[in-house]
Amino acid sequence: MFKKVLLFTLLSLALVALVACGGGGDTGGSGEGGPTPVGNVENGETLFSQATIGANNAPGCITCHSLEPDVVIVGPSQAGLATRAETRVAGQTAEQYIRESIVNPNAHIVEGFTEGVMYQNYAQDLTEEQIDDLVAYTLTLK
Ligand code: HEC
Repeated sequence: MFKKVLLFTLLSLALVALVACGGGGDTGGSGEGGPTPVGNVENGETLFSQATIGANNAPGCITCHSLEPDVVIVGPSQAGLATRAETRVAGQTAEQYIRESIVNPNAHIVEGFTEGVMYQNYAQDLTEEQIDDLVAYTLTLK
């Protein structure tokens, strides 16, 4: 028991040290100090266009989001998303906005659409890496 606590404490310290070092450098961008992993665009594109996705076979993005301008399937077209995402929510970068839209879809509802329609559990179903990849890909949709 005591050993476990000690181990946990050591691990936590190591993690804090890691984050503290990694968060250094310029002050712009990721103010939280956490790592800002850059996803893989190609993997993201593949994920985006799958009919089902993630641990629970959730509906894939493409089943609701067209890549053609102004085509609404269920959700808004993703054409030009990266550009719109820059100004959707004051204080959020395009990356932050898109990431939030995936993991917490109701944080901001696009005008003309209804809350709760987008699949709500991607944060649980997808791995961190898959989310990074999707963000990286959708950031190319300018
Ligand atoms: C069941 C349908 C559905 C699925 C599946 C879905 N979405 Fe959505 N999505 C929506 C709807 C509806 C909205 C608009 C309402 C809102 O803002 O939540 C939306 C909004 C968004 C937005 C904000 C768009 C903007 O113009 O601001 C992003 C980004 C997004 N979705 C990404 C994704 C990604 C990535 C996936 C796949 C991992 C996905 N969505 C899967 C229905 C869906």
